[in-house]
This record gives sequence, C-alpha cells and structure tokens, in this order.
Amino acid sequence: MYNTEEFGSYKHRYISHTQNLSMSNRSELLFERAKTVIPSGVNSPVRFYEPYPFFVASSKGSKIVTVDHITCIDYCMGYGSLLLGHAHAHVMEAVKSQLDYGNLFCIPTEKEVQLAELISKVVPCAEMTRLVTTGSEATMSAIRLARAFTKKRKIIKFEGCYHGAHDYVLVSAGSNGIGVPTSEGSIEGFSSQTMVIPYNDPSELEQVIKKEDDIACVIIEPIPANMGVVIPDKQYLNEIRKITRQMDIVLIFDEVITGFRLSLGGASEFFGIKPDLATFAKAMANGFPIAAITGKKEIMQQLAPGGKVYQASTYAGNPISVSASIATIEKLIKEKNEIYPRIAKTCDRIVGGIKDELEHLKLSFTTNAIGSMYQLFFTPEKVDDAKSAKKSSTVMFKRFYDELLQNGIFIPPSQFETCFVSNAHSEDDVDKTVESYTDALHKVKEVL
Ligand SMILES: Cc1ncc(COP(=O)(O)O)c(C=O)c1O
Repeated sequence: MYNTEEFGSYKHRYISHTQNLSMSNRSELLFERAKTVIPSGVNSPVRFYEPYPFFVASSKGSKIVTVDHITCIDYCMGYGSLLLGHAHAHVMEAVKSQLDYGNLFCIPTEKEVQLAELISKVVPCAEMTRLVTTGSEATMSAIRLARAFTKKRKIIKFEGCYHGAHDYVLVSAGSNGIGVPTSEGSIEGFSSQTMVIPYNDPSELEQVIKKEDDIACVIIEPIPANMGVVIPDKQYLNEIRKITRQMDIVLIFDEVITGFRLSLGGASEFFGIKPDLATFAKAMANGFPIAAITGKKEIMQQLAPGGKVYQASTYAGNPISVSASIATIEKLIKEKNEIYPRIAKTCDRIVGGIKDELEHLKLSFTTNAIGSMYQLFFTPEKVDDAKSAKKSSTVMFKRFYDELLQNGIFIPPSQFETCFVSNAHSEDDVDKTVESYTDALHKVKEVL
C-alpha cells in the first residue's frame, strides 16, 4: 500500500532541497478537503487511487511537481494528450497571443477554418471536420451521424475499448449479444442497441455482422489504449474495413488517443486504412480542451444546421483551444521526421530496459508497445484483448505503481491504462526511468 510517510521522506535528486520534508503531507490534507466538496475528491474516476492521489502544483516538459515539491517524471502525460511535453513553449505562446484578442466569441473565426484545413491536410479520411470540446462529445456525435446516415440503429464496439462517458458506449457484453449498461443511471434502452464483441477476433465480428442487419456503425480504437495498450493482429483492421464496406456499415476510428500521436495522420495513416469517420482529441492541441469529428463529406454534411443531425456546443471552436491546436499541428507537420522517430526511440529504450530486467530477474511479465505507448502487464500471458488483459494482477500492479512513484516516476495509476512518452522525455529521463523500473521489479519479486 502506498505509504505517505515514505513518499514524504523520499530523498531523490528531483526533490527540491528547500522543502522541509518533515512537514505534513499537503496532498493528504488537500484530499481531505476535496472529499467534502468533490465526490470522491476527484473530478474523474481514474485520478483516485488508494489511499489518496498526490496533488500537482506545476508541470514543464517531462516533469510534474507535486504540492509537496516533489518532482516526478510523468508517463501519464494527460492520458496521452501532451505529445510535445507539458506547457510546451510554442503552444503556450500561441495561446498567450490569442488571449490579447479575446477568449470566446461563439462567432466563426478564420482560425477555425485554418484548423479544419490543417486536419484535412494530414488526416487521410478528413474531408470535413466539426470541432467539439471533448472526446466523449466527438464519439457521441459520430455515432449519431452514422445512425442518421445508414438509417440503422445498432452499433458495435469492442470489449475493453473506451469511447467516453456517454450512454451509447458505457456498455459491456451481456448474454445473447445484448449490451448491458456499465453505469447505474444508464438505461437499457440505449445499451441494448450496442453490441460488444472481443477485440482481435475477426470471425466473431463477421458472425455478428452477418446475423444482424440493423448495424449502423463499428466504432473501434485502432490501437486500444484503455485496457493497457493492445496491438491489433496483422490484417485485423484491414478485415474490419473490408467487411464494414461490404455491408454498408460506417467505420469509425476513435483516434482520441492515437490521433497525431501514432503518426501525424494517426492510426489511419500508420496502417494505411481509411475509416468513414474518425474522432480526435488529446494530442491534437497538446493538452488544451478540443476534439474533432471528421470524415466523409456525405456523412459530415448531415450535421445541423444544413443537415438534420443535431450537434451543438458553446465552447466548440473556442479561439484558445483552436490556437493551441494550430500551433501543435503546425509544429508536428514541420518536424514530423524528427519528432515521431525520436519519441518511438525513447519508448523503445524504456521498453528494452524493462524487458532486459524481466529476463535478468526471470520474471515472465508481458510488455506491449507501439510508437510512443507502452504498458507492462503483470501476467505471463500474451495480452491481445480485454480477457487476456484482465488476467493481470492488479495487486502486483499497485505495489509496482507505489514503488515507481517513490522513485519519482509517475505512470497512470491503473493496470488498464497506457504509459505515454513525449517529445520532452530526455535520455536522462530514460536512464532514471529504467533504473526505477529495475528497482521496482526487484521489490515486486521479493513479495512473489
Ligand atoms: C479512445 C478514447 N475515446 C474517447 C475518450 C473520451 O474522451 P474525453 O475524456 O475527452 O471525453 C477517451 C478518453 O480517455 C479515449 O481514450
């Protein structure tokens, strides 16, 4: 169990030596306050872990600084948002200069047009784009668009893939293929229209599609990153594209995580597969709140007011986030040949270091990695879908997580999330990270 005393007394070179570490732990005090006014003390469930999360004061590059003045190397990176690193100077400058001209208009701006044009330039399926604010909004609207376009009702999603916190997709597999709500307050009227099937199983998908003629869309994370990171089998995504096209089903790539991260044109460019619609968020503005639904003109044109699919939002296309997104994408376009190989190399070095140590300690845990994303699963078995991911020991993960944190390494606090590398992670960060993973693996081995 994560021990606050140990965290507070941790003496690593990243600790500010001006801090009196014998002082009471401010994160603990803040969490006590938070619990009285914020449900469970956090504004999103994954941010909580036992006994309480640390609170952050500031961030820059690859590092975050806690309210107790402890600096950690961050591999959560805003759950994948901060591809260029925390508080990236070029993006922050763009935001600061926009502030002089106003922060919200709810009237069209030239920058929105410029951003949509940039997205069309780099994303293979992007004929038209509508800007929204969160990934959840983007996937909800994409599904609504698909239903309106096909005049069909049902949707297919994959076990372990996450598409946001709305009723269409907060669904798990029930008996007879009928989805059941995963949240109280969600109703069966929605979940029963969602079919949930295993990832990486083309025959199951084919069977469901051939049996059911009311399927509007298949929505998929091309690289699932919400059950830890999972790699699609060779040809799997191609087969999904083929069968959805044959059966007039809209294929939605949910690229909220992979977009602008796996490559400039996301998973779609990486695998050379064009979905009908795609959703983006996170890395598209390096941490500023913006998302996008993009895709084929004939589908996108159904959006109101020209079309009959309603979608609206006060903050959609707000100039702050749009400025951040333009600055991010322009930098990625200009430096893609350096940035993507560099981040992949950083990730490779970390994963290589972890694998070497696993071998050295004769521990048969599994690592999955692609591009700038990786995860270590506490199971000896191959992890290629939700069922195999769930075989991981979450108890061991928690012990490991606590050890890493004490060594100044912050990874997402769940076995079923993904670690993200940014362009700001340095060689020194990698050395320190591998050292800390090594140390934490030794500690885990001691209790096996
Ligand atoms: C693949 C994917 N889609 C959609 C979402 C929802 O995005 P948001 O949290 O911005 O609503 C997430 C969030 O993590 C995600 O990982």
